[in-house]
Amino acid sequence: MKKIAVFASGSGSNFQSIAYAAKSGELKAEIVLLVCDNPKALVLERAEKLGIPAFVFSPRKYDSKEAFETEIAARLKESGAEFLVLAGYMRLIGSTLLAAFPRKIVNIHPSLLPSFPGKDAVGQALAAGVKVTGVTVHFVDEGMDTGPIIAQRSVEVKEGDTRESLQAKIQDVEHQLFPSVLQKLLGERILT
Ligand code: GAR
Repeated sequence: MKKIAVFASGSGSNFQSIAYAAKSGELKAEIVLLVCDNPKALVLERAEKLGIPAFVFSPRKYDSKEAFETEIAARLKESGAEFLVLAGYMRLIGSTLLAAFPRKIVNIHPSLLPSFPGKDAVGQALAAGVKVTGVTVHFVDEGMDTGPIIAQRSVEVKEGDTRESLQAKIQDVEHQLFPSVLQKLLGERILT
């Protein structure tokens, strides 16, 4: 059974879908740690209910990204995590974690990358007036949503869609796609 850590900053609906998939056996992995950079995030309540340990920190209490990532790396080592899953972690991963987990970090992003990287991808898609947007799962590199793409699913933008309605459709797709892509990846030799 692979040991994974999930990184999240906000609501944690993707964290929860991964945790449910791990519980049901659809995803043959154990979430050994949640890493959260926001002490007020709802994801922390979800983790507590699920009995998943969390490392929560305030980035501004550290001198640098290197300083907090060094602490994260130590916690990850303690937890035995072998693979990192970014599920709404709204922060660029720095060289400390990239070096500690080479090609072992994946992210989910709510657009068809390379379109609409960065913040508010759903709002960016609406503002651009596209008819199709979607979801991307990709390996993480030092860039902003730029690493090699692993899987994508499209989502139609309908006349009258609002940010809320489009986000809900995208998240439904994310909650299906992410656990299944993770299961595929964890079964591959590349990640063993
Ligand atoms: C998800 O839609 C995820 O794709 C997005 O944040 C949301 C987190 O929702 N991530 C990014 O925009 C990363 N650039 P959740 O906390 O309910 O899982």
